[in-house]
Amino acid sequence: MTVSSSASPCRVGIIGGTGLTQLSGLSISGEREVDTPWGEPSAPLVFGTLDGQGVVFLARHGDPHRIPPHQVNYRANLWALREAGVETVVGVNAVGGIHSEMGPARVVVPDQLIDYTWGRPSTYFEGELESTTHIDFTHPYTPKAREILIEKARAAGLGCSDFGVYAATQGPRLETAAEIRRLERDGCDLVGMTGMPEAVLAMELKMNYVCLALVVNWAAGKTDHIITMEEIDAAIDQGMSGVKRILADSVAELGSL
Ligand code: HPA
Repeated sequence: MTVSSSASPCRVGIIGGTGLTQLSGLSISGEREVDTPWGEPSAPLVFGTLDGQGVVFLARHGDPHRIPPHQVNYRANLWALREAGVETVVGVNAVGGIHSEMGPARVVVPDQLIDYTWGRPSTYFEGELESTTHIDFTHPYTPKAREILIEKARAAGLGCSDFGVYAATQGPRLETAAEIRRLERDGCDLVGMTGMPEAVLAMELKMNYVCLALVVNWAAGKTDHIITMEEIDAAIDQGMSGVKRILADSVAELGSL
């Protein structure tokens, strides 16, 4: 399928995670199946406008939702967005809450991350290289993009935590209570399975990157009951409309970063 040439430039890419396989509110102008040197992305790129801003949407787990976190082709996803002209990526992530402020349905814009994943292709710098490159990753999320999301969330009257260390775990299983206690000792506030290597790949491609996280459960051991899909679905139902509102209100400013 082709993309309308009259569409505004798609400077903003939105990667939707669990609970956000399609972006309602996006006025769709076209869909494109693409291939990259790193393989196929999770789904066709969906082009459209959101609040007048050109946007490319990509379902991280495929549409329908079928690719587990450790099997997402993160390199192909980010590459495809870059090739489509995206300069700023918003990664929407469902997460477990560790910090006492981060209960179900809470929106969090984290400022740091710790990577606990393993075995995922996590760099474009491999193979026959002329020199080794070490990119700076001190601030994994673009500060200005974070400010925009936080300001729009507040303006919309939505509860939003403006800090947080995101623990990226391997999955697809959830954690043990002891693992969560360890993450907490490490300084982590929220836990998810898809935040890395997405953030670092965006940085390698010199794109802005920001995480918009929705807490969908208390992390393991934080309550006296086990985590169920029902509670996760209920939190998604409760919180995803706020996430969509923040996206719609933010894309125009994100597009001019
Ligand atoms: N742990 C890891 N990833 C998650 C969780 C969790 O509790 N909830 C949603 N994604």
